[in-house]
Amino acid sequence: MESVRIRPMAEDDLPGTERASAVTFLEGDRLTRRVSEPEPEPRSAEASRRWIERMRFFLSIDPGGCWVAEDAGDIVGFAISQNRGPIWYLATYGVLPGRQGKGVGSRLLDAALAHADERPGLFSSTVHPGATRRYRLAGFSLYPQMRMVGVVDRSALPKVTGLHEGREEDQEWMDRLDHDLRGAGHGPDHSFMRNTLRLVVSRASGRPGYVYIDQDRGQPALLAAGHPQTAQKLLWEALAASRGPTLVNCITSANHWAVDVGLTARLDIGQEGYLAVRNMAEPAPYLASGHFL
Ligand SMILES: CC(C)(COP(=O)(O)OP(=O)(O)OC[C@H]1O[C@@H](n2cnc3c(N)ncnc32)[C@H](O)[C@@H]1OP(=O)(O)O)[C@@H](O)C(=O)NCCC(=O)NCCS
Repeated sequence: MESVRIRPMAEDDLPGTERASAVTFLEGDRLTRRVSEPEPEPRSAEASRRWIERMRFFLSIDPGGCWVAEDAGDIVGFAISQNRGPIWYLATYGVLPGRQGKGVGSRLLDAALAHADERPGLFSSTVHPGATRRYRLAGFSLYPQMRMVGVVDRSALPKVTGLHEGREEDQEWMDRLDHDLRGAGHGPDHSFMRNTLRLVVSRASGRPGYVYIDQDRGQPALLAAGHPQTAQKLLWEALAASRGPTLVNCITSANHWAVDVGLTARLDIGQEGYLAVRNMAEPAPYLASGHFL
């Protein structure tokens, strides 16, 4: 254990950290797979490229939250977190399977939490017993999350009106909405997401809302709204964009409006990890994004 060094992440670490992340999460998915689910696939070259771009972005905005564990030149663990004004979030965190259970993860999380400096925070957690133990001991409440999978029954799609393609000018009110729902705007994360995902918004007075849609995978990547009905419209719009199997995740119990949409669309509901939240309420109507929260 002593040979493992915890140090700030550098740009050169991105490829090695991506490889460590791909191995760690593939193994984690294998271990937590239910018998009815397909065997997890290794991360594709395109997904690896996207992962590196996202982490490069985090490193450029708030490098103080990005940490790696290194042993003899190899990356064996990582904790990538970010402060956005008054809140902190953990974008990703892992230790290589063969190196787990030896205290490396605790040291990495301590470094990321020191950067949080007691800020309220949130992130999406796996069910790994070591992870959940550490999170609870660090003062986070764990809200079980649901996820919905399947092919949308297109005959169930309602006619959705009053939504528009999002623009840069929308960001000001989107940050205000974020602030109301989770205590801080996404700030620069909005620019990054707008460049990589489709943004659809509701600008109706008193009924603001937005959803980022991953067009390649046909799934909502982050959704926020002032009212559950607006949230439902936005989720329908995202589901309408899906071609083939889709996935809606990060649904906490305060967000049953999403379950109602999924059931009507004939998606299957299952459970998946927790939303970990410290010193703030569980956001709703809201579907967090795995990396941007
Ligand atoms: C979660 C993870 C990062 C923790 O890293 P690690 O190096 O294994 O963690 P540590 O050895 O520092 O152990 C952390 C705590 O969990 C406990 N723990 C570790 N593995 C455990 C296990 N399999 N079952 C129960 N408790 C466990 C340790 O005892 C320790 O608690 P303690 O300090 O109070 O005794 C690592 O296991 C991992 O990468 N898991 C797969 C990916 C994942 O789930 N990441 C979390 C994403 S939110």
